[in-house]
Amino acid sequence: MSLKERDKKHLWHPLTQHKLHPETIAITKAKGCELIDENGNKYIDAIASWYTCMYGHCNDYITDCVTAQMKTLDQVVFSGFTHEPAIKLSEELIKILPKNQNKIFFSDNGSTSVEVGIKMALQFHFNQGKKKDTLIAFEDGFHGDTFGSMSVSGLSVYNGPFEDFFLKVKRIPTPNGSNHNDILELLKTIVKTENVAGFVYEPLVQGAAAMKMHDANALNEILRFLSTHGVITIADEVMTGFGKTGTFFASDQIHTKPNIMCLSKALTAGLAPMGITTCSQAIYDAFYSDDISKGFFHGHTYSANPLACTAALAGIELLQSEEIQNNINRITASHKRFNKRIKDHPKIKATRQTGIIYALDLNIEMERYGNLRDELFKFFMERGVFLRPLGNTIYIQAPYVITDEQLQKVYKTIEEVLEAF
Ligand SMILES: Cc1ncc(COP(=O)(O)O)c(C=O)c1O
Repeated sequence: MSLKERDKKHLWHPLTQHKLHPETIAITKAKGCELIDENGNKYIDAIASWYTCMYGHCNDYITDCVTAQMKTLDQVVFSGFTHEPAIKLSEELIKILPKNQNKIFFSDNGSTSVEVGIKMALQFHFNQGKKKDTLIAFEDGFHGDTFGSMSVSGLSVYNGPFEDFFLKVKRIPTPNGSNHNDILELLKTIVKTENVAGFVYEPLVQGAAAMKMHDANALNEILRFLSTHGVITIADEVMTGFGKTGTFFASDQIHTKPNIMCLSKALTAGLAPMGITTCSQAIYDAFYSDDISKGFFHGHTYSANPLACTAALAGIELLQSEEIQNNINRITASHKRFNKRIKDHPKIKATRQTGIIYALDLNIEMERYGNLRDELFKFFMERGVFLRPLGNTIYIQAPYVITDEQLQKVYKTIEEVLEAF
């Protein structure tokens, strides 16, 4: 029996209505930018498996480092114990993070990195005897699937069963170039009428909102206003972190730095799950006390797993290498050329790019298709390109090691869509 048939017996996949989408594709091997399925079909992974494997799948350098670590120290409790991979990772990460970040807290995925950030902000105020019960978030944000991160996500249309249990959140529009005065007025009202603890935001690019991009200056004004009103700012860089926006972090392009940052995905180069929440010394200091209950009582069994830390260290080293930095510039320039070529096509409504993240919205009648996303996905996969459109948006977020030839194939397949649909 094939893997995809065996899969059906016991497996329950994420974000899937199995009755409507019973089929899966069984991947047996991955190398560089390529995925290979059980029938030997090859696909260019043009979204780096949800923005994780930015240095390529099964990168030899990363797997060698992790293999060596695996034979030395595999796992140990991180409460009361420590180890070199975590210490070294904290040192290397601090070197590339915005200067105000000084402490590193481990968890094990993107959602938990946000959950931790929210809990830090709430307890920061609580420890100082202030009851602050409201969070601010962008309308179209996505921050994950745990309760805190679901609460701040504006997007999740399938969160209905849980909404009654959410944290209190006030939503603001994302800056679109002409509305930031309105947003500031709205914020003035919110900070006056609510006890605001924190603001959670995806800086520059909102991933799940179909790569919606916003302006750094307007975001800076929002952050500046909130910071002067005692609101803890929490940058969710789970998607944008580690080079994708053209700088190590999207927050590097915004003058006002966040108090807290959430990291995951490319953090471990796609090799192991890990989340990290970083914060400024001032946040940490609010927990540092003779009173045990002021400590941060949050922990996961696999916090700071040495193998995940080692993968992260190898990834950070590669990110800073000349080769990867040149690749980032090469891909950024290549997307710009592609954009010039296609942006005026009648089937394209809009295009946008930040760093190596490129997105286009199709100008086609959705009604003509049962489910446009599914049709597009099938079209791409049949042509050996793994792209995962969001509604009528096609986006590319390929590994930094994608070759020019592979990039051209991705572009060509997108151009074929413009003819076929
Ligand atoms: C910006 C952002 N935050 C949080 C998450 C949640 O991360 P995870 O799926 O690892 O829980 C995602 C996932 O796509 C994301 O894009």
